[in-house]
Amino acid sequence: MSKQKTILSGIQPSGKLHIGNYFGAIRQHIAMQEQGDAFYFIANYHSLTSVRDGAELYQNTIDVTLDYLALGLNPEKATFFAQSDVPQVVELAWILGTLTPVSLMEKGVSYKDKTAAGLSPNIGLFTYPILQAADILIYHSDVVPVGEDQKQNIEICRDLAGKFNRAYHGDFLVIPEDHIVKSVAIVPGTDGRKMSKSYGNTIPIFGEGKSLKKTIMSIQTDSTGLEEPKDPDSDNVFALIKLFATTEQQDEIAAKYRAGGFGYGHAKNELLGFINEYFGEAYEKRIKLEKDLDYVKDVLSDGGRKARIRAEQVMEPIREVTGIIRSFK
Ligand code: ADP
Ligand code: TRP
Repeated sequence: MSKQKTILSGIQPSGKLHIGNYFGAIRQHIAMQEQGDAFYFIANYHSLTSVRDGAELYQNTIDVTLDYLALGLNPEKATFFAQSDVPQVVELAWILGTLTPVSLMEKGVSYKDKTAAGLSPNIGLFTYPILQAADILIYHSDVVPVGEDQKQNIEICRDLAGKFNRAYHGDFLVIPEDHIVKSVAIVPGTDGRKMSKSYGNTIPIFGEGKSLKKTIMSIQTDSTGLEEPKDPDSDNVFALIKLFATTEQQDEIAAKYRAGGFGYGHAKNELLGFINEYFGEAYEKRIKLEKDLDYVKDVLSDGGRKARIRAEQVMEPIREVTGIIRSFK
């Protein structure tokens, strides 16, 4: 039997997870737990580049764990953990940094985008791709399911693994395949731009009744009157409905748009119904899990233990070949 592939991905705990994160990442993570040896982690060191409040970062980390468990992450199948529970990652990131040309980081689009969006231009943000490379390489990951926006970071990771292997003459690090998740286009936010925390246009996965309704009602539409026929394909609400509806349901709703007498308010109510139905069961599960935080923390600590064992196996020969002394066990 051939060895199972190691699948790895990470998500930042930098705010409430939204339906763009769900369709662009989380749903695939959960599906892929069946397809190999899956490792999913909460990238809390990465989030230090944007979250400057300890209590908030801690709470976000617990919230992301709750979200994943509620949405179907099975800790018996996938190893789920916090990045900070594997200190070897930071150790490897330093070593990789000594092999990283400054010019490679200067080409990074994510640093440019994030500083343009107002994040502080700190060294952590600048060298973010090196830490991300260590995240991947420390588990000998084969497949890294990520969205299109992460493509460059995966290329940098492959590049750094190659540089390390050439510098130390051996196959110490596994060069991962990139696996760009293509199943979903960019999910639009309430203003029609890409849904993103940084644009403040998100629809949370687990929104509370009233405030969720308010968010849905705030989705921007054009000014076509209620009675007039409408083009579903140029409407944000319909683009969101399509994520949840079956093809038959989509055809039915599209026909109502075209017929007239169906306002955007009606469409928004349909969307709200779909969201509540789609995430309803997970919502209930999340409420139960919130009452059992000991279990939630155990998931993180068990996952962290498994991930550390794997990371140490990869790190040991690297310390040896680089000549880095470790005088304690
Ligand atoms: P945000 O833009 O809200 O800060 P992140 O950059 O933390 O979101 O994204 C986490 C994951 O969710 C990434 O894998 C990304 O590809 C995916 N993702 C984020 N927003 C969207 C979106 N609007 N549509 C599809 N996927 C998205
Ligand atoms: N940079 C990723 C994001 O913003 C999160 C991340 C950190 C990651 N390390 C990773 C994703 C390693 C995949 C593999 O979404």
